[in-house]
Amino acid sequence: MERTYVMVKPDGVQRNLVGEIISRFEKKGFKIVGLRMLQMDRAIAEKHYGEHIGKPFFEGLVAYITSGPVVAMVLEGKDVVTAVRAMNGATNPANAGSGTIRGDFAIEVSRNVIHGSDSVESANREIAIYFTDKELCAYKKILEDWIYE
Ligand code: RTP
Ligand code: MG
Repeated sequence: MERTYVMVKPDGVQRNLVGEIISRFEKKGFKIVGLRMLQMDRAIAEKHYGEHIGKPFFEGLVAYITSGPVVAMVLEGKDVVTAVRAMNGATNPANAGSGTIRGDFAIEVSRNVIHGSDSVESANREIAIYFTDKELCAYKKILEDWIYE
């Protein structure tokens, strides 16, 4: 089964959206296999967002993402990387459809509430930033037979 890295950003935590967001992924049928809260520092931000270093928005992004605690999680399920990106909605909430997390709960690109890995490779890289193998739980859920054929 595929895994992805998902993170409620500091604005999502401050705006009491943690439960709502986790609930959407749970109700969809994805399995939480890792979950923790932390406050990112600059070093973690540069690791996570290395591809954006040097871009005009990078300093603002670091200030934002390190401004308060985030909720980090690993979700598991069939095609979960693509599905979470769809559930999160477009990077700029102005372009995110209603029914998506960003479409429903955010207005500006620089306060877009949620992160999801953009590929399986990114997911593996990002998961390793936040979780050790021991911190991830492989377990069977009885409902799986009602979610997957
Ligand atoms: P994320 O990595 O956070 O899930 O978002 P994404 O893949 O949809 O978008 P990405 O291009 O990776 O951008 C990373 C984050 O940087 C902030 N951003 N700000 N002010 C701007 O123009 C701008 N562009 C990007 C957003 O927080 C975006 O999610
Ligand atoms: Mg990204």
